[in-house]
Amino acid sequence: MTNPASSQTAQLLDKGGQVTFPTGFLWGAATAAYQIEGAATEDGRTPSIWDTFSHTPGRVVQGHTGDVACDHYHRFRDDVKLMAELGLKSYRFSVSWPRVQPGGSGPANQAGLDFYRRLVDDLLDHGIEPWLTLYHWDLPQPLEDAGGWPLRDTAARFADYAELTHAALGDRVRYWTTFNEPWCSAFLGYGSGAHAPGRSDAAASVRAAHHLMLGHGLAVQALRAARPEHDLGITLNLYAVSPQTDTPADADAARRIDGLANRVFLDPILHGAYPADVIEDLREVTDFSHVRDGDLTTISTPLSVLGVNYYSRHVVAAPVEGAQPEPYWRAPSNWPGSEHVRFVTRGVPVTDMDWEIDAPGLVEVLQRVNREYPELPLYITENGSAFVDEVVDGEVDDPDRLAYFDSHLRACHEAIAAGIPLRGYFAWSLMDNFEWSWGYTKRFGMVYVDYDSQLRIPKSSARWYAEVIRRNGLAAQ
Ligand code: FCB
Repeated sequence: MTNPASSQTAQLLDKGGQVTFPTGFLWGAATAAYQIEGAATEDGRTPSIWDTFSHTPGRVVQGHTGDVACDHYHRFRDDVKLMAELGLKSYRFSVSWPRVQPGGSGPANQAGLDFYRRLVDDLLDHGIEPWLTLYHWDLPQPLEDAGGWPLRDTAARFADYAELTHAALGDRVRYWTTFNEPWCSAFLGYGSGAHAPGRSDAAASVRAAHHLMLGHGLAVQALRAARPEHDLGITLNLYAVSPQTDTPADADAARRIDGLANRVFLDPILHGAYPADVIEDLREVTDFSHVRDGDLTTISTPLSVLGVNYYSRHVVAAPVEGAQPEPYWRAPSNWPGSEHVRFVTRGVPVTDMDWEIDAPGLVEVLQRVNREYPELPLYITENGSAFVDEVVDGEVDDPDRLAYFDSHLRACHEAIAAGIPLRGYFAWSLMDNFEWSWGYTKRFGMVYVDYDSQLRIPKSSARWYAEVIRRNGLAAQ
């Protein structure tokens, strides 16, 4: 029997560090509505939880908000032109729920939908495949006021919004992602409180996780019924997790964090069941009585693609009495059960977020997903790094970001050569933008944004990425 992986591998052989990706590999870049659009009150848009959160003193560094952001709402045509110059094959963006359905219920706002229709048409005119994410964290504020994601009804509201958006754009967008990183919405939004809506309630965060997945399942069912030919999926932020040592106590810490970071979403969505050990770990927080009969069947409605966002690895150990609390992105203090682990810093190079750079972890994550859920086509829907950038003579040289992309793309190539069905890669991010609770202080873009003038300057990593796309691979190192 021919193994498709081995014939694919044959075309991909490294030649002195030069690697080639499969024909048709989808090269893209990603953004999210609240991080780039601005125009927060225009054409009928109403506040989301991120508008409220960013306008609450003390929540976002330096009081930054997304009111103007990259002003993409008004500059999208220039931004699409830039994407075309870089040769992007695809662009992953998100739709702002309160722009297309103000308040989160009731009829669509035509002006909001028209914006996305113009954007999509412009992308298609430039030969760029639109990839649409329905939810990248901007819940309409009235839905939060009614209870937010810990409330079951929010899942039904989301399915309604998904259908209405799909009805308007489904004739021209083929790739649909329901949620971006439900882990962040649930555990940073309702657990640690570091993200909007800023609540710190462990039980609520576990209910939120469930209702986010329920909303996902309901939306997939509705969209699939409307257009079975579409590629439907969800994007999860998956981590490589390893124990600091091989002691049973450290191994148990790794099991726990793998459960809470990865399996709590992977297993219900792809296998229709919560992992037994995670249910056990969370017993001190919730009895799972919010899970109703049939929910897991809905949640595990088959997908056509899985999006993976990869940034770093968690190295964990058993806790030490009296240890310093960790920064929220590693061990959110109210991340349920996180008091049972200690996050370890290894002293390897980090980005400006202090996230350890670990390209082999990307291969591990892809191998794991492929082993446990074989056949499912995978896309890296986000991968990238923040570094401090400086404009010198009108140019931005960013060798560290470029090296990060290079090492992670080599990891992607390694995974493909091993037979993993990885079909595309989206750099985070097309341009510098509002980095959530860090405001504009962290730059992830391949394109530099001067927030005073809104000038865009492609950094050296953008020029390099354009060349990668052009040759469908990486040059020798
Ligand atoms: C991910 C988010 C994205 C961006 C990157 C750095 O968690 O999906 O919006 O903030 O991190």
